[in-house]
Amino acid sequence: MSYDLAVIGSGPGGYVCAIRAAQLGLKVAVIEKDATLGGTCLNVGCIPSKALLYSSEMLERAGHDFATLGIKIAPPELDLGAMMAHRVAMVEANTSGVEYLFKKNKIETIRGRGAVAGPGKVSVTADDGATSMVEARAIVIATGSESTPLPGVTIDEKRIVSSTGALALDAVPKRLVVVGAGVIGLELGSVWRRLGSEVTVVEFLDRILPGLDGEVAKQSQRVLARQGMAFKLASKVAAVDDSGDTLKVTIEPAAGGDAEILEADVVLVSIGRRPFTEGLGLAEAGVAMDERGRVAVDAHFRTNVEGVYAIGDVIRGPMLAHKAEDEGVAVAEIVAGQAGHVNYGVIPNVVYTHPEIASVGKTEEELKAAGVAYRAGKFPFSANGRARVMLEKDGFVKVLADEKTDRVLGVHIVGPFAGELIAEAAVLMEFAGAAEDLARVCHAHPTLSEAVKEAALAAWFKPIHI
Ligand code: FAD
Ligand code: NAI
Repeated sequence: MSYDLAVIGSGPGGYVCAIRAAQLGLKVAVIEKDATLGGTCLNVGCIPSKALLYSSEMLERAGHDFATLGIKIAPPELDLGAMMAHRVAMVEANTSGVEYLFKKNKIETIRGRGAVAGPGKVSVTADDGATSMVEARAIVIATGSESTPLPGVTIDEKRIVSSTGALALDAVPKRLVVVGAGVIGLELGSVWRRLGSEVTVVEFLDRILPGLDGEVAKQSQRVLARQGMAFKLASKVAAVDDSGDTLKVTIEPAAGGDAEILEADVVLVSIGRRPFTEGLGLAEAGVAMDERGRVAVDAHFRTNVEGVYAIGDVIRGPMLAHKAEDEGVAVAEIVAGQAGHVNYGVIPNVVYTHPEIASVGKTEEELKAAGVAYRAGKFPFSANGRARVMLEKDGFVKVLADEKTDRVLGVHIVGPFAGELIAEAAVLMEFAGAAEDLARVCHAHPTLSEAVKEAALAAWFKPIHI
């Protein structure tokens, strides 16, 4: 079996890389250990979580907002089985979509666990133990990540769960303790709170969503707390006792001090993800790792072994599906002799809570730390006509622009459809646009995007509507 390119892993990094390489005329094989294609994102990540977030948000809106909007219905009831069936159907639709795309592009799928067996060689071990050797001019490692364990706490995916178990609970837990106020904790915490759980989020740091703009994180915490999510910041989970009918969670102040015990029915451990390289044979093949256990790559995604590349969650950078996809395209182009490239300065980040949180570029904290002089322009959704009629007045848009050049350096949004609104900021920043450029672009009225325009107006000169 001889190919131009062998990709190990069929997540957003691997499958997109394979498709682009095939489109560029290369003969491609993808080696995948799991039964379905699509990796973490399609099977147990982005897609199933967004299915549950959407369903649970609709349930909450039907219960809270319909009456105000003039729609009389009986109090809506949860049908958890049907909600989970929707999740499963959406995952199947997406994973079979990748299968279809592989066939369309004549990409060979090889089931089994791949290991780098030296330059140009991948050994594959099938589930029944049979081994085979795949030869390829280039190899791309796209094996993704797995959830980071909490020392001393054993995940059983029933009562003590990672995100995978939290996506598939068969009943609504009365009390859910979430460890980690990051993206997974807030998204899946939101799902179960909307479905009726009392949710307490325990976070080691003194803020939620580390890495996001501080003002955005504060505002988001306020809104989530108002929705009923409880936060214990600057705290850590020291132990979870699962010997009884209810879990006993020992929580200590991060700085040390007296512990308290919280009772819970389910504990979700969401303290980050780590690169997945188990069984890949990297040490034997001499592939170098970086200081954080990720596959080390140069600016062209090359490892230190000739012809072996790596992309996605298994290398440096944010663990995001679209970042993995763009790296997949870049590597396919590089292997095909073109100049593939990813601009890490313009990778949007979206948290699918309600309201959504979205950002691209630098935060205020980053600009201050780098000594960059900037102007911040802000506009609240409470002053946006479309947001008001949608009963979506929480949140704001913030545009950060260079004080001298007016170039937009970062855009941060908490608000309705923030994940969609951020795209115009990303386009503007890719073209090195200024706040004035954004402010002078005609935006349709009444739209949520007018809040983006007004924030740009505020950063450049003055907003009109506040
Ligand atoms: P993965 O998607 O992890 O795929 C790796 C693949 O490699 C897997 O199929 C695995 O089985 C396979 N593999 C591993 N080792 C081998 C081997 N030796 N041989 C053969 N196959 C192997 N990101 C977003 O951008 N937006 C979101 O909304 C979002 N939501 C998420 C929600 C959750 C609950 C989680 C857990 C993650 C979420 N992410 C989201 C992150 C996103 O899923 C990852 O960034 C993305 O999947 C990384 O893609 P990847 O191709 O690098 O790896
Ligand atoms: P995360 O890195 O986003 O958040 C982890 C949180 O746990 C941090 O706030 C951290 O300070 C805290 N923490 C770490 N150790 C702790 C401890 N011992 N006790 C208490 N708190 C502790 O990681 P998360 O939420 O697990 O998600 C992993 C990754 O998956 C994300 O970083 C993101 O890259 C990806 N993802 C992306 C999504 C999106 O784009 N919408 C959705 C879900 C996941």
